[in-house]
Amino acid sequence: MSNEYVKLTDPDGRQLTSLPIVKGTMGPSVLDISKLYHDVGCFTVDPGYSMTASCASGITYIDGEQGVLLYRGYPIEQLAEQSSFLEVTYLLWYGELPNEKQLQQFTQEVVHHTMINESLRLFYQGFHHDAHPMAVLVGVVGSLSAFYHDYLDIHDPRSRELAALRLVAKMPTIAAAAYKYTMGQPQIYPRNSLSYTGNLLHMMFAMPTQAFEIDPVAERALDLLLVLHADHEQNASTSTVRLAGSSGANPFACIAAGIAALWGPAHGGANEAVIRMLQEIGDVKHIPQFLARAKDKNDPFRLMGFGHRVYKNFDPRAKIIRETCYEVLGKLADTKDPLFDLALKLEEIALKDEYFIERKLYPNVDFYSGIIYRALKIPMSMFTAMFAVARTAGWMAHWMEMMADPEQRIGRPRQLYTGPVTRDYVPLNERSKDDPH
Ligand code: SDX
Repeated sequence: MSNEYVKLTDPDGRQLTSLPIVKGTMGPSVLDISKLYHDVGCFTVDPGYSMTASCASGITYIDGEQGVLLYRGYPIEQLAEQSSFLEVTYLLWYGELPNEKQLQQFTQEVVHHTMINESLRLFYQGFHHDAHPMAVLVGVVGSLSAFYHDYLDIHDPRSRELAALRLVAKMPTIAAAAYKYTMGQPQIYPRNSLSYTGNLLHMMFAMPTQAFEIDPVAERALDLLLVLHADHEQNASTSTVRLAGSSGANPFACIAAGIAALWGPAHGGANEAVIRMLQEIGDVKHIPQFLARAKDKNDPFRLMGFGHRVYKNFDPRAKIIRETCYEVLGKLADTKDPLFDLALKLEEIALKDEYFIERKLYPNVDFYSGIIYRALKIPMSMFTAMFAVARTAGWMAHWMEMMADPEQRIGRPRQLYTGPVTRDYVPLNERSKDDPH
């Protein structure tokens, strides 16, 4: 227990309560306010939870001021350079880098679950061909609950691990099938001799009519994007998964909820919105007018891919992705992308603009990722689906961490009530004839 406290006093200096200060291994300490209502009769209020720690977690650490991101203590820059998505998934779940045998065994376990039940493939038929892949993902992933619900014991660690393996293994199959369905092309089965990311590219772009060669540059670039998107502490979609999971809901249903939360343009949907924004800007000469709109409080336009709730410095992932754009566009010969040049110019101009400097608004993970997806011929509608494939690793790490916590209880925030005070019911014939609204 902490021996440091913050004392809360009333205007006359009388002590109301003392709130223990709890320290973590890195970053800000927290004030334990669990006694506050009992001692003072107050709740705290923090819209958007920007200053509230919802839990203790050992998975990912972010320092927004310094632009630092660690997965289980390892800097994202080193993992991006030297690791792979499946190795990072193992790290996020088990807390340590796997040795060769552990990685091989883990890979085999994931590979064993890449197929989806044939009857699940029929679910896609219910969607119109122009359905957004994220809508398909929410529906299909949620329906996995119906396939594994009966014998899923969420209180058994091995059963939880099996659900996590199934989800990470099946997400590429489900996402690729959503893409194929919108293209009106036959869904491609996983080929387990391929890498995790190679399989994803294979299922998206292979055709039954001809052999499909996986470009190692594309495979490496996509695997890097999956590593960079794998986890990010208590972001909106991860918090959604935790809150859904706290009620004891089926993990497949929790991930469907996380996918839904990720879809929003303020969150994972921003990568698609960035490309739409760049296409709307169209030319460097239009940048000033769009920056003016971004600064105009009366205009809903925001500079997509810019700003972050936590990072008040460069998002380290954005830096890595920007450098990867140069490599990928250089090597995938037929991809000179004018939108990349426009994005670079937009970043350069915005970062010299007082509005952005004053508010510490920098490019985030979504600002450049779409450039790479375009170079890989992944359609814009699939950008957030790629994010969901990657973030399933982090969502499951947090769900397993939460479910293993013996102190875990259902999440239930309170509120500041601002509605009508108590009043008596008014019979219909005694009510005003005027329209009150
Ligand atoms: C992700 O949380 C995570 O970790 C998310 C994520 C992850 O890996 O899970 O990192 C992934 O979601 C990245 C963010 C992707 N979203 C976008 O790129 C959408 C564009 N960004 C903005 O909508 C905004 O920056 C948010 C939603 C990301 C953050 O919103 P906040 O916390 O409300 O922004 P803020 O408090 O930092 O804003 C401070 C000021 C405000 O203006 P003032 O009221 O002070 O005058 O900056 C303004 C904001 O209006 N502002 C912007 C802006 N972002 C903030 N103005 C113009 N364009 C922007 N993009």
